[in-house]
Amino acid sequence: MESEWDALRALGAVTALWLLLRVTWEVGHLVYVYLLPQARRGAPWLRAHGAWAVVTGATSGIGKAYAHELARRGLNIVLISRSLSKLDYEAKEIERLHGRITRVIQADFTGGLEIYGAIEAGLKDLEIGVLVNNVGMLYTPGFKKLLDCDNVAKRLSDVVNCNVMSVVQMTAIVLPQMVARGKGIIINISSLSDRRPCPFLAAYAASKAFVRSFSRAVGAEYFSQGVGVQTVSPYTVATNMTRDVSFGKNAEDFAREALDTLGLTSQTPGCLSHALQSFLLPLLPSWFSLSRWGVKLTSLWANRLKEKFAN
Ligand SMILES: NC(=O)c1ccc[n+]([C@@H]2O[C@H](COP(=O)([O-])OP(=O)(O)OC[C@H]3O[C@@H](n4cnc5c(N)ncnc54)[C@H](OP(=O)(O)O)[C@@H]3O)[C@@H](O)[C@H]2O)c1
Repeated sequence: MESEWDALRALGAVTALWLLLRVTWEVGHLVYVYLLPQARRGAPWLRAHGAWAVVTGATSGIGKAYAHELARRGLNIVLISRSLSKLDYEAKEIERLHGRITRVIQADFTGGLEIYGAIEAGLKDLEIGVLVNNVGMLYTPGFKKLLDCDNVAKRLSDVVNCNVMSVVQMTAIVLPQMVARGKGIIINISSLSDRRPCPFLAAYAASKAFVRSFSRAVGAEYFSQGVGVQTVSPYTVATNMTRDVSFGKNAEDFAREALDTLGLTSQTPGCLSHALQSFLLPLLPSWFSLSRWGVKLTSLWANRLKEKFAN
């Protein structure tokens, strides 16, 4: 009996030590990545990777904020989105506010392989130091079941092309010149939903799980050749995409804080407040959120949210 108690005590001590080490590591990581100003790599470090940054989905929300912040840090910017008038407007704003050169490429990322020839031609001869694969879409505004939108097949194909194909193809276009120069940074904007299946965001969360997995693997493949790949998995940022939710971090602050983490971590929720929120995620276990009761609860929450912001 005595020896069984000793074994239990030893197990308890090992568990407590493991938890203590884990908490110490996590807190140390948070302080290093988000709070230590002297750890910041700074604008010259960023510019040393190449004179240009390419941002997909650059005319609003997080992409626009990244484009402005990268320009503020001294990079010339290629903006890629669907609307030429918005592209021209934003390009002029960047030139006016930050004094950098810009180029615009009009593209609709819901298209297939055929759209990438023109993008490749538009990027030819540019020394691209930073690629931000930001463009992304929900298949229907808010939280809905898979079949609860019109023209489901087309919407799902759009989500896959926009959220998945764009990341893969843009990486394939830009990576060769980064590898040739032994320098470059690819930032893939994922989502906190990339960690686990999310009922009512099924295709979106699955597309982001792809982004996360792809980023980590490509990052591992090319790290030794001087190319860094960072996955940014935000919680809620106040943009057009989240207008139904209507809360979230300001996009400009988010992009600034997320860019400060470059070179310090290859995976980040982007900012301290989102990092703290991501600690809470495991408190709601995956088995519960996928269970009948979990799905019911999410559905109730989604409806309440919709009603609240409809008024
Ligand atoms: N906002 C959040 O809370 C949040 C949280 C986690 C992850 N994210 C991710 O962050 C990224 C940016 O989201 P956001 O909230 O900033 O979105 P947003 O405000 O809706 O902006 C989307 C941008 O992409 C462009 N765009 C949209 N569809 C396009 C298409 N088919 N082809 C080309 N360009 C397109 C839009 O410009 P045009 O309309 O002119 O084309 C716009 O510039 C996405 O990948 C999203 O999944 C956002």
